[in-house]
Amino acid sequence: MVTMTQTGSTNRKLSILFLFFIGILIATLFLSVIFTFKSSDSIISLSRSQSIDKYNCNANNPPRFDLESVSTFYDDHSFGYTFDKPVKNWDKKRLRWLKLHPSFCRSNKQIFLVTGSQSKPCKNPKGDHYLLRFYKNKVDYCRIHGYDIFYNNVLLEPKMSHCWAKLPAVRAAMVAHPEAEWIWWIDEDAVFTDIDYKVPLERYKDRNFIVHGWPREVYEEKNWLGLNAGSFLIRNCQWSLDFLEKWADMGPQSKNREKWSKLLSETFNHEADDQTALAYLLLKDKEENESNKTYIEMEYYLEGYWAVIADTLKNITNRYNKIEKENKMLKRRHAELVTERYAELWEPYLKDAGSWRRPFVTHFAGCQPCSGHHNPSFSMLTCWKAMEKVLNYADNQVLRNYGFKHPDLSDSSLVSSLPF
Ligand SMILES: *[C@@H]1O[C@H](CO)[C@@H](O)[C@H](O)[C@H]1NC(C)=O
Ligand SMILES: *[C@@H]1O[C@H](CO)[C@@H](O)[C@H](O)[C@H]1NC(C)=O
Ligand SMILES: *[C@@H]1O[C@H](CO)[C@@H](O)[C@H](O)[C@H]1NC(C)=O
Repeated sequence: MVTMTQTGSTNRKLSILFLFFIGILIATLFLSVIFTFKSSDSIISLSRSQSIDKYNCNANNPPRFDLESVSTFYDDHSFGYTFDKPVKNWDKKRLRWLKLHPSFCRSNKQIFLVTGSQSKPCKNPKGDHYLLRFYKNKVDYCRIHGYDIFYNNVLLEPKMSHCWAKLPAVRAAMVAHPEAEWIWWIDEDAVFTDIDYKVPLERYKDRNFIVHGWPREVYEEKNWLGLNAGSFLIRNCQWSLDFLEKWADMGPQSKNREKWSKLLSETFNHEADDQTALAYLLLKDKEENESNKTYIEMEYYLEGYWAVIADTLKNITNRYNKIEKENKMLKRRHAELVTERYAELWEPYLKDAGSWRRPFVTHFAGCQPCSGHHNPSFSMLTCWKAMEKVLNYADNQVLRNYGFKHPDLSDSSLVSSLPF
């Protein structure tokens, strides 16, 4: 019995000692786990705040204000996004908003892209596929240059359909983006074919509206095809809101529609569509007001006609390849983020390029890829072939930064590794 008790008490002592050690072990583990979490947590937060300080362009801006303590023009309910709610004193309102939000005055916020297409699926079976690729091209361009983009696929003014639909979209975007100095409308079927090129805004210091075309055709020959309304820049200011209002007043929803229809077809010998209306406004701006606020750009393709461009791409590629071969820096591989820096290196070689410079924007006017109701003067097959070629040509400039290219512009699914 005694022995048994002694043995029992020794056993108990041992197990207490055992439990004690286990306890210490668990406690140590527990503490070390907490410590590890804590320290790794603080390492994460440290590196986060460091990287924000280092890369966030807004680091020097004042802290954010309390949203409830300030009112902006958005609080005024008589103020609106649509043509039936005219905005007054927009320049002042915009300026005040910018003063409240100085962190948005960055140079890549100068341009805000607006594009879009219809709400319903395309009638043409291949239409949606091409719309997606057209959109991808715009997203690529915007990512590389740091621009924001809005894709609108609803009619903001139900009676302004088809080509007129862009007007209410631009009007709403102007008010929704007071940080943007320029709104750039671009049709869904237009492709950026020079990914490096940037709109030379410095040329438009005193201008408010820029469109591609041939001034003589518009001002002298009164030809509605002397410009193309598929791509235009409009400054975000009161003048532009008034200009858009005048433009919209010629639209199908307007009570003055009949008067304008008559006047436009007399002046331009063409139906009163958005483009004839624009040509008329530019003509009058020149003839009556000599304001110089509107400008017809013909020195680069803010918009270029696909049928003129598609066949020139091969020779252009050859010229670029030749230059690249002779200059190691141009051929050098680099991160996509520094594409703009490398584009600058190309400029001296392209200064006098003229017609063999990559066309900036290629527009498939008349192809109507979504509806399929193309201009009868060419076949849909011609359009599809040109679209493939042009989209792949543009995509090669993007894929390059990812190490690939389309060796055959007529086959979008085929890629090969870059040879260098
Ligand atoms: C020309 O100026 C007048 C007076 O400021 C204005 O009413 C008219 O709309 C302007 N025309 C155009 C085409 O901008
Ligand atoms: C418009 O441009 C012309 C020629 O460049 C110039 O003579 C005229 O003064 C300008 N008008 C305004 C209002 O700036
Ligand atoms: C391409 O270049 C070749 C050789 O210089 C020339 O014969 C041809 O006309 C050019 N093609 C086009 C579409 O400009």
